[in-house]
Amino acid sequence: MDPNKTLYENLGGAEGVRALVEAFYPKVQKNELLSPLFPEDITPVMEKQYMFLSQFFGGPSLYSDANGHPMMRARHLPFPVTEERAQAWLSCMYEALKEMDIPETVVDVTIQRLSGPAHHFINTPS
Ligand code: HEM
Repeated sequence: MDPNKTLYENLGGAEGVRALVEAFYPKVQKNELLSPLFPEDITPVMEKQYMFLSQFFGGPSLYSDANGHPMMRARHLPFPVTEERAQAWLSCMYEALKEMDIPETVVDVTIQRLSGPAHHFINTPS
């Protein structure tokens, strides 16, 4: 992990975030807790996630430029997000990160950054 660079850069910039999103969604689609929440055509979700994570990790503000304020918790309210689903989401992300050619510290920092929002989006008791 290079502390003088953004997490976005440490993940490999646009190419790295794209690869992460492409590794992540097939895992979501195979996960029995998560897959029922997502549409069959995952492509538009992948594109939005690419835009969101780029800016969340300190890269260009692609998501806000296209959609305005993210309001991410509100955008998740139509979906029952439980503690178990938050854990499953983070596990899929961890598995996807492990497939990338990046240092272990970058994997850990990325999961730490995503853990807050993932738990914040919980809106349904288990
Ligand atoms: C906690 C577990 C989570 C679950 C179960 C979950 C589930 C979902 C679902 C079902 C959608 C909508 C798919 C559709 O368009 O039909 C969605 C959209 C999205 N999620 Fe999550 N999510 C979780 C956590 C997160 C986290 C931690 C982030 C980022 C920090 C995130 C970012 C997004 C983005 C950017 C979208 C697209 C929003 C849009 O439509 O503009 N999600 N998520």
